[in-house]
Amino acid sequence: MNPRFKAVIFDLDGVLTDTARFHYVAWKKMASGLGISIDETFNETLKGIDRMMSLERILQHGNVQLPLEDKQRLAHEKNEHYKELTAAMTRKDLLPGALDRLDELKGLGVKISLASASKNAPAILEALGISGYFDSIANPALVAHGKPAPDIFLLAAAPLQVRPEECLGVEDAEAGVTAIKSAGMQALGVGDPQVLAAADRVVPGLDVFTFADLFADWP
Ligand code: G6P
Ligand code: MG
Repeated sequence: MNPRFKAVIFDLDGVLTDTARFHYVAWKKMASGLGISIDETFNETLKGIDRMMSLERILQHGNVQLPLEDKQRLAHEKNEHYKELTAAMTRKDLLPGALDRLDELKGLGVKISLASASKNAPAILEALGISGYFDSIANPALVAHGKPAPDIFLLAAAPLQVRPEECLGVEDAEAGVTAIKSAGMQALGVGDPQVLAAADRVVPGLDVFTFADLFADWP
């Protein structure tokens, strides 16, 4: 059987592992040091957004202006805290269903790629023990425009020699779903259907479906 998609391009944080939580904890601590309070609703607007842009959004939210030097220091400190929070991660930190779905895609002969905005992604994949599953990993340092722009999904697909319409992108963030759709790909949202309304389908997790079934009734 010819699978409906030739490649599945995953986001990392919040899709394969719960690092979205650690990004939130680290940003919250940094923000509170500046007297800025952020909550889960505001945090939704940070998901998928790169480090410096996330910092800019937090400063804007708190109406705080800082020189570039201070912003670079804060972003660095946030990242050091994030690395501490993720230091002990292992395969047990994969979200339910993640390993099964990766194995399933291998069995189906579907290419697997990563489109994460995180510069920590390669280290996290290593810690999770899943680097070997990926046919390509897009380097976020090489994209001109972060999510919601399509760049990182197009970069992830490039080495696979597949057309955008042959790719399924998997995302937990609104900005990520917009990026997938702008790339001309199909979007599978993982999480809240209201947040991810622009996705073609939304599932609550990777453990509640099989790609074989999903592909079979994908238009
Ligand atoms: C992902 C996360 C964001 C994070 C971004 C940059 O997209 O969803 O919350 O800010 O990566 O991550 P980094 O590890 O490079 O700071
Ligand atoms: Mg994410």
